[in-house]
Amino acid sequence: MGQLFSTHSSSRGAKIAVVGAGAVGATIAYACQIHGVAHTIALYDTNAAKVRAQVLDLRHGSMFAPPMTIVGGTDIAVCADADVVVIAAGAKQKPGQSRMALAEANVALCRAVVPRLLRVAPDAILLPVTNPVDVVTQAILTLTGLPAHRVVGSGTVLDSSRLRMLISERAGVGAPSVRAYIAGEHGDSAVALWSGASIGSVPVTGWTTDGVPVFTPEVRAGIADSVTNAAYEVIKGKGATNYAVGLAVAYIIGAIVGDQRLILPVSTLVPDFHGISGVCMSLPRLVDRAGAGAPVAVPLADEELAQLRLSADRIRAACGELGL
Ligand code: LAC
Repeated sequence: MGQLFSTHSSSRGAKIAVVGAGAVGATIAYACQIHGVAHTIALYDTNAAKVRAQVLDLRHGSMFAPPMTIVGGTDIAVCADADVVVIAAGAKQKPGQSRMALAEANVALCRAVVPRLLRVAPDAILLPVTNPVDVVTQAILTLTGLPAHRVVGSGTVLDSSRLRMLISERAGVGAPSVRAYIAGEHGDSAVALWSGASIGSVPVTGWTTDGVPVFTPEVRAGIADSVTNAAYEVIKGKGATNYAVGLAVAYIIGAIVGDQRLILPVSTLVPDFHGISGVCMSLPRLVDRAGAGAPVAVPLADEELAQLRLSADRIRAACGELGL
């Protein structure tokens, strides 16, 4: 029987459970705490010392954040009745290692833990973050038979933030004024959707400085490469990424529990998008209390659609190797 640490009587409001109390899971919890995204955060991990320490470290900062109940433990019951269950456990990329290389180990972990989670949180929206997140999302859907809207992979929300950061810095405009999506695989075949990208209401492809086009094809290619390689660069320097993904996942959680109806590039099963279907990958979708809606009809250049097809094929091949 697992241990449950440090619990208050849970207050009313949304409960978020985070499976995996490592750097990513704990930072997700931390981001939710700072933003007051929920009333209860529960951390679950099989490592008793780690999950206890993470819960204590988060609770020690209670004075500086909105009121929140933070609990944790090694008993899956700590996730009971969660509105959203984040799955952030599993092997992480080593320097230079692709996310796809983690597929077999991390899908196996999900096969073991997800059925137990649904027994204690049968109505939860599942939010896989564990990589390769598109394959893990597909595995969870296959394993559970849940409707696609209830399994919301974090997908390329983080990549889209990286894209907007790079566009905003080159244009000299604050990132909140940039609208741009990365779609497809959260990984090496991610696709920048330049056709629909804008700064203010100006298409990125038409943005000029002193009358000179800024985002030439060469500049756009360089930015897309920087996004695709961003995680490798951070992992090379500090061993893992955690801050940006923590903020990205807290943002997705806020859209769900706050029923915010945001258009976010999350990953779940694609019903039929320009002939792409039967695979989990990120496309801009409406995210609200029900989870992820159908992909919205974003403008696409032929080249972007071709890249999305390649991305879908890459994810489908990885799923096929695991019998998904
Ligand atoms: C990254 C991890 C979360 O892109 O895949 O930072």
